[in-house]
Amino acid sequence: MGESLTVQGANGSYPMLVKPGALSEELPGFADERGFARVVVVTNTTIAPLYGEELVKQLPGGHLITVPDGEEYKTLETVETIYTSFLEAGADRSTLIVALGGGVIGDMAGFAAATFMRGVALVQAPTTLLSMVDSSIGGKVGVDLSQGKNLVGAFKDPLAVFADTNVLKTLPDIELRCGLAEALKNAIIGDAPLLIHLLARGLDPAEETIRRAAAVKVKLVEEDRLEHGPRAFLNLGHTFGHAIEKVSNFEWKHGLAVAVGMVAAARLSAQHGLCKTELAEQIERTVEASKLPTRFSGIEPADIWDAMKHDKKWRDGTTHFILLKGIGVPVIVRDVTRDEVIGVLESMKN
Ligand SMILES: NC(=O)c1ccc[n+]([C@@H]2O[C@H](COP(=O)([O-])OP(=O)(O)OC[C@H]3O[C@@H](n4cnc5c(N)ncnc54)[C@H](O)[C@@H]3O)[C@@H](O)[C@H]2O)c1
Ligand SMILES: [Zn+2]
Repeated sequence: MGESLTVQGANGSYPMLVKPGALSEELPGFADERGFARVVVVTNTTIAPLYGEELVKQLPGGHLITVPDGEEYKTLETVETIYTSFLEAGADRSTLIVALGGGVIGDMAGFAAATFMRGVALVQAPTTLLSMVDSSIGGKVGVDLSQGKNLVGAFKDPLAVFADTNVLKTLPDIELRCGLAEALKNAIIGDAPLLIHLLARGLDPAEETIRRAAAVKVKLVEEDRLEHGPRAFLNLGHTFGHAIEKVSNFEWKHGLAVAVGMVAAARLSAQHGLCKTELAEQIERTVEASKLPTRFSGIEPADIWDAMKHDKKWRDGTTHFILLKGIGVPVIVRDVTRDEVIGVLESMKN
């Protein structure tokens, strides 16, 4: 695998570059070669002084738009301020928009680019590990409503993804670990050798690790652009994870909840007769080696089950779970009972 992956989008393919220095060394030339006279970078107040201000100086007709930092700003209101700033910057249909940030900026600036003047060109420049291995891939963009996350959105493929691994040096450790949980998830559902590597090395945001974790998502998205089938495998650990986030009133961060959720899914797989207990133990050891949680406390298993009832996939007194027959062999299972889930969760209480 070279420095870049090729992603098959809805309208042709585009490159995803994973490389230290990708932003300063590659993005300006890319914008120039593609003939963009104006490039508008959308970022937040944390990333602007770290990377945004330098980057716009290097871009043709560079202009910086800064929004507040946080999921609570991933709203239509903020998108409206972005549209206004686009107009003030003189943006039109020939402008390139760069989404410089984590998943929040990628989703929101991507949505603004998908809708401003019925769509302008977009580059994703992910700056968190999570956005490099997950949210910048697959073209889903959008914002939250007060009623729930990601309720408004679109599919918008970028012209390219520039993942500059140098920026991970300033990423807070907790964010790195949350991203690692999703990287681990991708390895478990689609890349057994990567999982063994992660087990040996633990926390390791090296280029090759990121590229391979990203490649798992790229492959699943290509197989299932509109989410009718295999893309659901990316939700390993998420049925449990979302419920734990909710029951804890979002005190559990998404990545950490997914990590403990993956342990639960692996145990449930063994319990359900899909795999040997050794597989669940191996997954648990890998999660642990990555300094991610494998146990929880202060939450009742029955409450976690009840929170799952709000899952979009809830039907006939249960929901669907992504379980494992082996590493790289995820399956969707619909016949899991409350007793099985509670049993697994009881065994994971601290
Ligand atoms: N579109 C998709 O397919 C998809 C998939 C998964 C998640 N998401 C979305 O992604 C979002 C979560 O993304 P996230 O985990 O990247 O969170 P985030 O974008 O909120 O970033 C986390 C924090 O790290 C800071 N930060 C980012 N890069 C930094 C850097 N290099 N140095 C220092 N600080 C930095 C941010 O300012 C923020 O405070 C959620 O809104 C979720 O819905 C989307
Ligand atoms: Zn996730």
